[in-house]
Amino acid sequence: MRSIKRTSLIVANWKMYKTIEEAIRFVTELIPLVEASVPAVYLAVPFTVLHEIAIRCKSTKIAIGAQNMNEHEEGAFTGEISGRMLKEAGAKFVIIGHSERRQLYHESNELVNKKLKKALEIGLKPILCVGETAAEREKGDTIKVLTTQLRHSLADLTSEALDNLTLAYEPIWAIGTNQTAMPETAQEIHHFCRRFLDHEWGTHAGQTTRILYGGSVKPENAGKLMEQKDIDGLLVGNASLSVESFEKIVNYSNQHLTI
Ligand code: 13P
Repeated sequence: MRSIKRTSLIVANWKMYKTIEEAIRFVTELIPLVEASVPAVYLAVPFTVLHEIAIRCKSTKIAIGAQNMNEHEEGAFTGEISGRMLKEAGAKFVIIGHSERRQLYHESNELVNKKLKKALEIGLKPILCVGETAAEREKGDTIKVLTTQLRHSLADLTSEALDNLTLAYEPIWAIGTNQTAMPETAQEIHHFCRRFLDHEWGTHAGQTTRILYGGSVKPENAGKLMEQKDIDGLLVGNASLSVESFEKIVNYSNQHLTI
């Protein structure tokens, strides 16, 4: 059995915020504040700031990545960006299948699957996002929706490939709404995801895949979320835009590690 331990991780998703100047100011302040943190710290930044910020974060605790990539190697795809371009610019990871991409840009599970395969092939670590809408939740369809997303997004991936993948459960009703999932509810869903991986890809995948929670994470709820057994880290939107709140999330998480 391959031995890979789950490690904790806090990810900032800056979405379409921050110019180069703002991003430089942010990392210059953040670097010394998170140097001693146990969880790894990732920043998913806009394409335009990636290269500059990756250089500034070299030899620090912080890894830089992107929020999306194209599924092709290269080609006539106006306005798109390839994984190889991101990697050369300094990206170590890429978020794939965020609900904003799925909802606003109609990304299907099949497309997400192609992007995941391409990211893994070129050595970018993907963070795959899954999550249900408020209507699906109210209908009691959460597990059904997640099963479909996981099954189709991860289709044909080997359990070895999963070693390099992080999963993020982001309930859509909790994103940008101030309506965080109850830590116990999030734990139940994370536990389900782990059992699903276990069932489809074997115990190793179930036990070792890192699973993050995202959706209105703030300094006030980070600790309680991180205390849950199957929550290995957090994916933070709004509260990752200020050094003050993001640094608190990283450092509170540090005090509540269960892995
Ligand atoms: P908020 O933290 O703003 O709810 O966003 C969550 C998210 O979408 C992270 O990817």
